[in-house]
Amino acid sequence: MSVAVIVTAAGSGTRLGHALPKAFAPLAGEPLLVHALRGASSVADHLVVTAPAGHLREARTLAEPFGAVVVPGGDNRQASVAAGLAAVPADADVVLVHDAARALTPSALFDAVVAAVRSGHRAVVPGLAVVDTVKEVEPAGPGQPERVRATPDRARLRAVQTPQGFERALLERAHAAAPDGSASDDAGLVEALGETVWVVPGSAEALKITTARDLEVAAGWLAAGVRP
Ligand code: CTP
Ligand code: MG
Repeated sequence: MSVAVIVTAAGSGTRLGHALPKAFAPLAGEPLLVHALRGASSVADHLVVTAPAGHLREARTLAEPFGAVVVPGGDNRQASVAAGLAAVPADADVVLVHDAARALTPSALFDAVVAAVRSGHRAVVPGLAVVDTVKEVEPAGPGQPERVRATPDRARLRAVQTPQGFERALLERAHAAAPDGSASDDAGLVEALGETVWVVPGSAEALKITTARDLEVAAGWLAAGVRP
C-alpha cells in the first residue's frame, strides 16, 4: 500500500519558447522539474518522471536526489503517462499524475488528493471555479469568427488541475481502454469508462506554466515567499 506520483515532464514547451524543454527551464534558478518533484515528494513513496527522449541524462541528474525513476515519454501527454504508469512499482495502490509544468503546486494539494482517494473516491481531480463565462464554439476557418454553439452554466464549470489521483487499477484500466489516444487529462479516460470522477478544491498556485508570462508570475510568487 503506497502512493506513486508520475510527474509528466516530456513535453517540448512550444508555447513557452525556451531553448530547453519546459521542465528544464529555470524558475528562480532551479528547473521547473525540481520544483515539481519537491512539491510531490512529501506525499510520494515512489516518483516516476517522464522526460523527453533526448534529455534523459539531464532528467536523471535532477531526479536522483529525489529517488525518482526517469522513463522516456511519448509523443503526447497520454502516451507519456502510459509510459510512466508502466514503471510504477507493484506495491503502489494509489497513483497520482502531475504536470511538471505546475511547478509550484502546494504539497497540501497532493495531500488532499491522496486523502480523497483513500477515503473511497477512486478518481479525484483538483478544480477551481471559472471566472470567465465560457462559450462552446464551432470550428472556423483561419481568420474567421467562430460561431457560438452553447454557453454552459458557469456555476457548474471547473477548471481542472493536477495532481489527479486514482486507484491504480482504475487508472490502468482507463489507459488500457484508450491505448492510442491523445487525451489532455487522465480523468477524462476514466469518465470514458463510465466511472465517476470527483472534484476537490484546487489551488491558484497549481497554475500550469505555459507561457513566458506564466513563468514571470511564478517567479513573483516565489519572491513573495510562496513555497510548494
Ligand atoms: N507532457 C509529457 N509528454 C508529452 C507532452 C506533454 O510528459 N508528450 C507533459 C509536459 O511536460 C507538461 C504536461 O505534460 O508537464 C502538460 O503539458 P503542456 O503544459 O502542454 O506542456 P508542453 O507540451 O511541454 O508545452 P506546449 O504544449 O506549449 O508544447
Ligand atoms: Mg502540450
